[in-house]
Amino acid sequence: MNEFCKKWELDPTKLPIHVGIIMDGNGRWANSRHLPRIMGHKKGVERVREITEMSGSLGIKALSLYAFSDENWKRPEEEVGGLMTLLRSYVQTDRERLISNNVCFRMIGDRTRLPVDVQTVVVNLERDTSHLTGLKLNVALSYGGRSEIVRAMQKLAQRVAVGDLKPELICAADVENALDTVGLPSVDLLVRTSGECRVSNFLLWQIAYAEMAFESVAWPDFDSAEFARVLREYTSRERRYGLTSAQIKSGKRGSF
Ligand code: FPP
Repeated sequence: MNEFCKKWELDPTKLPIHVGIIMDGNGRWANSRHLPRIMGHKKGVERVREITEMSGSLGIKALSLYAFSDENWKRPEEEVGGLMTLLRSYVQTDRERLISNNVCFRMIGDRTRLPVDVQTVVVNLERDTSHLTGLKLNVALSYGGRSEIVRAMQKLAQRVAVGDLKPELICAADVENALDTVGLPSVDLLVRTSGECRVSNFLLWQIAYAEMAFESVAWPDFDSAEFARVLREYTSRERRYGLTSAQIKSGKRGSF
């Protein structure tokens, strides 16, 4: 058994393949310590490193992190600027660490809205890690599930317009292949920190059958032990995909 699974008392055969995380609570974490909000985001970057490394070590295949939503552009200019600076510096300073940990990095979201220099460092990191075979790390930036689906529909409409696709033959796989997450499996486990129980426009298509874990701890306090606890709880759940418990136990999961 993988030594990390042993250390955290996790059954590797039951771990999720794809974990999504809504990293919430940075602002409240900072406020409660009389610190500027950006200090919460800074601490949040440390947790990004810790949880990414742990995911790779446990053999989780994909980790999607919600770092900046479509709606976050409406935050005060100072906070938006501070977050862009943090993202820029993360992509630059963590490059070698990600490569040595065999992490394949991808940004999901509307990259055209990002400052040009952030777009450049993101594209470079995607290029330099595209061949890596370990954890697939997806960072959602300027991301919204609805706008991702709209962009996907536009791609399909273009294919129909040029005669490459018949409307009546459009299937779920065509939609999946037009999403930013193309090539990734659906999300198995969606975690949200800081006590809110909502999905806030994150990976709307991909979480159709995800298990939900709403945790009270703020993202800056969400360490390896917290993640292990959430994963342990997930491994005890029975996922039925609309079938009965008896069908699942007999191994008849249909074509899902
Ligand atoms: C939500 O907390 C968090 C964000 C809007 C930003 C998340 C960004 C990071 C963790 C850092 C950058 C990420 C990477 C991948 C390097 P909030 O500010 O809405 O918290 P609040 O609800 O307590 O105000």
